Amino acid sequence: MRLFPDPACVQPWTRRPSNLFHLVIQLVLMMMSFACNHAFNIDVSSPRIYRGTPGSYFGYAVELHREGDENMVLVGAPRAQTEQPGVYRGGEVYRCPVNIHQEPPLPSPLSPPPLSPPPPPPSSSSSSSTSSSFRSSDWLLSTRPTSSSSDSPLFSEMVSSSTPRSPIPTTSPDTTTSSSSPSPCDTIVFDTSGNEFIEGDQITNKSGQMLGATITSSGPDGTVLVCRPLYTWFYYVDSSPNTGRFLIGGCYLASQNFTDIKPFNPCKSLEPSMINYLPCEAGFSATISETEWIIGSVGAFFGQGDLLVGNLTSNTYRRTEVVDDLAFDNNYRGHSVSFGDFFGDGEVEYVTGIPRGTVNHRGLVSRVCDGDTTWYS
Ligand SMILES: *[C@@H]1O[C@H](CO)[C@@H](O)[C@H](O)[C@H]1NC(C)=O
Ligand SMILES: *[C@@H]1O[C@H](CO)[C@@H](O)[C@H](O)[C@H]1NC(C)=O
Ligand SMILES: *[C@@H]1O[C@H](CO)[C@@H](O)[C@H](O)[C@H]1NC(C)=O
Repeated sequence: MRLFPDPACVQPWTRRPSNLFHLVIQLVLMMMSFACNHAFNIDVSSPRIYRGTPGSYFGYAVELHREGDENMVLVGAPRAQTEQPGVYRGGEVYRCPVNIHQEPPLPSPLSPPPLSPPPPPPSSSSSSSTSSSFRSSDWLLSTRPTSSSSDSPLFSEMVSSSTPRSPIPTTSPDTTTSSSSPSPCDTIVFDTSGNEFIEGDQITNKSGQMLGATITSSGPDGTVLVCRPLYTWFYYVDSSPNTGRFLIGGCYLASQNFTDIKPFNPCKSLEPSMINYLPCEAGFSATISETEWIIGSVGAFFGQGDLLVGNLTSNTYRRTEVVDDLAFDNNYRGHSVSFGDFFGDGEVEYVTGIPRGTVNHRGLVSRVCDGDTTWYS
């Protein structure tokens, strides 16, 4: 089996170990730069303030988006209580209006200018680095089932089974602006149903799934990717007490002004060979452009983590290859993701943060090349 990261392909950008002298110099430089810089992009005189309900983690993820001429900020509240029956704090996403006179173009991850001047932060930056407060300490057993009844192809085309539906505004968060206008945010409804059951046996758990922990928009009138990295799916084996409960995670792809919402659960698999891939927490990080998306799945394969890259035109996706090497366990590839033409050569590079990568767990950023066998499709 091929090793990943492929040394020929991946270029680790690790920090050099700095000795005390360098550290002091860095600190002094940092303090000097604080002293002579002023923040220029925060409106302190007339801020617009949105507030969520207590304990909802309102603002855990935020993203700018636009539909028609309506600007909005999408706000995730991944611990919000929804109206889904039997679901405790499944998480919500709100659209909050932003009325500004001149609409700046939303940044697209595919169009940072090469190297200089410094590229604008891709739209993923607000959402791809989720905090570690819900790290998977609770991966459940990886009991390998004795049989599998699935004959579905492993890497099939993306599901597009859901029917388009109109967003139904339900509860709005306790939001206020500085001018005290009431509840400016609307709920975007991704799912109204409770947990799923098969013949009386529960097979999914949406409680604590953290919907809205990751939000990323491809730009005006584009697609919005919203994820729930702790969505749990039970590897259902004949009501066996050994059935595994896996944090498969997953996302929704929303388009057409949130009237077309497709669930996407790439880590759900009954394939026995995928059993250690299942707790992959898909959507721990994500970013999207007009043509492609990339989803980080930190928990896949004993915490080695994985990347899924999707093509919005062909409606297909592929993933990186996992390896059977203990050294890569718990490295958390996919903790943050980005892509773009970083070298200005017309080719798209996919990069991911691997916070526990390298021998001493210093962390690294690695680049995954396209068009070679590190992709598993
Ligand atoms: C998008 O949907 C919202 C809520 O249904 C609606 O108010 C708005 O007018 C729609 N915008 C466009 C451009 O269709
Ligand atoms: C579902 O998740 C919640 C929150 O993590 C937990 O309290 C509950 O026991 C889970 N239910 C099942 C059936 O696993
Ligand atoms: C996405 O799919 C389309 C249609 O199959 C193809 O033309 C395009 O090159 C693909 N894009 C990427 C980045 O692979």
